[in-house]
Amino acid sequence: MAKKNIKILSTSINKKTSELMDAINTSIDIDSRLFNQDIKVTKAHALALNKLKILTNQELIKIQKGLDIIVKRHMDKKIKFSRENEDIHMNIESLLHSIIGETASKIHTGRSRNDQVATDTRLWVLESCKNLKNQIKLMMKVIIKQSKSNQSNIIPGFTHLQVAQPVTLAHHLMAYFEMFKRDLSQLEFVEQMTNENPLGSAALAGSNYNLDTKLLNKELGFSKSKTNSLDAVSDRDFCVYFLQSLSMVSLHLGKMSSELILWSSNLFNLFDISKNYSTGSSIMPQKRNPDSLELIRGKTNIIRNQSSSLLNVLSNLPLTYFKDFQEDKKMIFDSYDDLKLCIDVMTEVLKESSFNADNGLKICEDNFASATDLADYLVLEKNISFRDSYKIIASIVNYAQLNKKNMNQLSLGELKRFNHTIDHNIFQYIDIRNSVTRKKTPMSTNPKKVIEAIKNAEKFLKK
Ligand code: ARG
Repeated sequence: MAKKNIKILSTSINKKTSELMDAINTSIDIDSRLFNQDIKVTKAHALALNKLKILTNQELIKIQKGLDIIVKRHMDKKIKFSRENEDIHMNIESLLHSIIGETASKIHTGRSRNDQVATDTRLWVLESCKNLKNQIKLMMKVIIKQSKSNQSNIIPGFTHLQVAQPVTLAHHLMAYFEMFKRDLSQLEFVEQMTNENPLGSAALAGSNYNLDTKLLNKELGFSKSKTNSLDAVSDRDFCVYFLQSLSMVSLHLGKMSSELILWSSNLFNLFDISKNYSTGSSIMPQKRNPDSLELIRGKTNIIRNQSSSLLNVLSNLPLTYFKDFQEDKKMIFDSYDDLKLCIDVMTEVLKESSFNADNGLKICEDNFASATDLADYLVLEKNISFRDSYKIIASIVNYAQLNKKNMNQLSLGELKRFNHTIDHNIFQYIDIRNSVTRKKTPMSTNPKKVIEAIKNAEKFLKK
């Protein structure tokens, strides 16, 4: 009865292929990762075949038990997939055959690897979106935690990488919360696009067996079936959407890592990266290099390319299935693995490292970060137009720079030389700490507004 690992497609058409052909054609080394999905899909298909009486109750039980044995052996790491059987679908069918014998030959009735692989991949993407969302949420929690402990700490806000205006560190960190929040919505969109079941489409035209698609959807957790069988077997848009959303997460992680790398440079000295996530130099004893962040930057730059690579694979292909599609899996698996690692590492780096807020304040003071507030002082208290006031403050800044002084080192007498109406109140505006509390708008860096933003962020994560 039970044979050893038969080659499923050995007919006169499918004669033994050359080794080189196997090298390019075989995908089991990559798609064995769809093992659980393929078992689940095969079990659901067996139920649908049983409902049509293609499989008797006994045969159904035999198949179910056979598949369970395969799962058990797989868990015990006792299964060696055969490259001869190309991919995970044919390997499982062949294993089933070797365990339960001829009954296994009925399992592929009314389906094709074309709808099978599309379904397996969709299940994998759905699960991966869920995992990524959870991981991103954990990272967002750490962002909130760091923001909470840095609510009144001031750092320079930059434009063009030039010191621009003081902001709180909490406000700065919460900007990343917003980015990752958008990423979560995008992953939800991917889930929506992926949540359609191709089963019943068979090779391309649909199945000759009236498979109960509602049953198949229920068994596999899909909310609906695909509408058109041709589209169902050729649609890899969900993989593109998946990679595009990973690109966006990468974009944000890359931005964050590259910023923290700058901040950890001695020249900025705003970020003290945890010893656990940095390395020393083999020759320079004083160095601590932010390797973890550099690798996140490098890897996320690679991930960002993957969606265009897949788009290129899919471009200009007529309907329906082509073997080109087999290339999609490496891209989605690799990108997912790398991104998952990057998110985990970033979460720990944020958790374990500390910021040098004292230096943030000093950088602001040394670089006239409250100059805009001074311009507003003349507008608000001296009824001078903003353009005139801008010029007066620019002259004061020039003067201070020439005399190698900070704003707060200028005397009232010196300041008055630029405009006689200037009075002692100006020192309130020079004070960097007051700059943030002066902000009025809801999205501003005013610590009161940031507290509000943090509260909303916490509520969002509890949902
Ligand atoms: N390994 C194939 C893939 O990943 C499965 C589908 C093969 N279908 C076919 N008609 N050759 O795309």
